[in-house]
Amino acid sequence: MTAPTPNWWKSSTCYQIWPASYKDSNGDGIGDIPGIISTLPYLKDLGIETIWLSPMYASPQKDMGYDISDYEDIYPPYGTLADMDELIEKCHGMGMKLILDLVVNHTSDQHKWFVESRKDKTNKYADWYIWRDPKIVDGKQQPPNNWRATFGGSAWEYVEERDQYYLHLFVAEQPDLNWELEETRQAIYKSAIDFWLKKGIDGFRVDTANLYSKDTLYPDAAITAPGEVTQPAFKHYLNGPRMHEWLREIREQVLDNYGDVLMVGELPYTERDEVLRYVSAEAREYSCVFDFDVVMLGNDHVGGGKKHQTFTHTLPQFKAAIAKCQDMLVGTDAWVTVFLENHDQGRSLSRFATDKDEFRDQAAKMLAVLLCCLTGTLFIYQGQEIGMYNHPEHWGIEEIRDIDSLNAYNDVKERHDGDELWLKKAMKGIQAVGRDNARLPVHWDASPNAGFTTGSPWIRVHDEFEKTNVADQQKDPNSVLHFWKKMIALRKEHADLLVFGTQFEVWDRHDQHVFTFTKSHPTTGDKLLVFLSFSDDIEPLHYPTWVKDAEKELLISTVAEVGKYLAPWEARAYLLKGGAVNGA
Ligand code: GLC
Ligand code: CA
Repeated sequence: MTAPTPNWWKSSTCYQIWPASYKDSNGDGIGDIPGIISTLPYLKDLGIETIWLSPMYASPQKDMGYDISDYEDIYPPYGTLADMDELIEKCHGMGMKLILDLVVNHTSDQHKWFVESRKDKTNKYADWYIWRDPKIVDGKQQPPNNWRATFGGSAWEYVEERDQYYLHLFVAEQPDLNWELEETRQAIYKSAIDFWLKKGIDGFRVDTANLYSKDTLYPDAAITAPGEVTQPAFKHYLNGPRMHEWLREIREQVLDNYGDVLMVGELPYTERDEVLRYVSAEAREYSCVFDFDVVMLGNDHVGGGKKHQTFTHTLPQFKAAIAKCQDMLVGTDAWVTVFLENHDQGRSLSRFATDKDEFRDQAAKMLAVLLCCLTGTLFIYQGQEIGMYNHPEHWGIEEIRDIDSLNAYNDVKERHDGDELWLKKAMKGIQAVGRDNARLPVHWDASPNAGFTTGSPWIRVHDEFEKTNVADQQKDPNSVLHFWKKMIALRKEHADLLVFGTQFEVWDRHDQHVFTFTKSHPTTGDKLLVFLSFSDDIEPLHYPTWVKDAEKELLISTVAEVGKYLAPWEARAYLLKGGAVNGA
């Protein structure tokens, strides 16, 4: 057996930057590209090899830049094209790669293509978006079908000039592009992809990477939310019939001109066989994908207004979701990602571990061990390396900026006539999983506004930044930040086992407090044994029987001295040398 082909991106440690909240260089309260450039030495020192920059393109910011009005320009508060050139150059100069977000399921309604398209039915861009006639029911005009948009409401918006509706799977200001039209695809490739590859970037994180191909008959979705006007319609636009054809077209016509371009797709709600079609090395569609099994734990996938639910899951479900992803490698030529956070999720500490004061740092280190010991390309989200956690429960809706959370809140308000208890419940859901949790300014130090800005921040800074910030953690050798740095280095040192290990196996599937797993080196027979505590109490260890007498080398531990039992939220990993493993 040989280790998988070592594409550069497989073992690369990636770090996601959300520009608005990362680092403000000019005091306008908004993070920017010069701010990013000023922190490159920090990222390099941490061990980061690839930066994923979330949308920095020209945009009216209806969905924080995922509504792009010009792929070839920059949102002025973030900087200029010259700043981007400098960022690319500096990253490369320091031996780091840079990938951008590729948002091509939709544009902004302010994109020139859409501005033209909406004018009439005959202009050059008339068919570049998805236009349909109204449906007339009982003499009344209605949208063409009952599809629900991801952030709630109908997925169709009426435009008088054309007396037609256009499709938007997200907010109305994000019209879906018509990928069926060859001319539109070519324009997308040229403007959104080629323009940036030519500038030297190393790849893309592909937004909503399985939505471009729709059921072109646009039928009504089956009623799965009885009594509601709009219905979840994933079935009709997820993994549609032409997705794979178009992705191969992109690879062959564009990417192949630039070498080994990383394409990491965001792939919601897709089962194993279908995922494999995208990520098999042979298919050359996506390099790897972010699947949603872990981050959607506890969600019923109905879409639209989901954030007013409070989410709970069990540790066994968490283990199963991770195992599902790791198992994608078994018997395939596929590759996977490792992540617990991004800009669409609550913070992993609050969601999957604990953010209680007394255990928080331990838990953050434990999650670092988990992530750095899993097979796949590792993605860390800004602030995760210092253990940032969700905003406090007492924050009110007035602090929230995210359109998804706001829509969800207003939906609850409307449905329940502004009932106070319902609104409290909605706020609780937003505090648990709302997207703004990840979008609060990064805590650089303990000075006002956490050193993020000298001005007034566009979104409230977390109340407790003095407890958790980069500057203080840099001074403390026992900090979460130092631990992450150590873990990233360890992952590189033992890449064969930690990044490329195979045969992931969970030894305590049903245990509610401890997560124990092993992995194998692809060739030597060495094994990795990892113990993770998800408990406020001391817990006993589950040794797989074949490990009992084997010689174990302690690779890493989150406590000063490992004992017979696991301390609360402790993590440790052992290396079992090939020869020492009996009967495995
Ligand atoms: C993806 C992005 C999310 C955005 C949506 C629409 O899910 O991650 O932030 O709102 O696409 O572009
Ligand atoms: Ca700024």
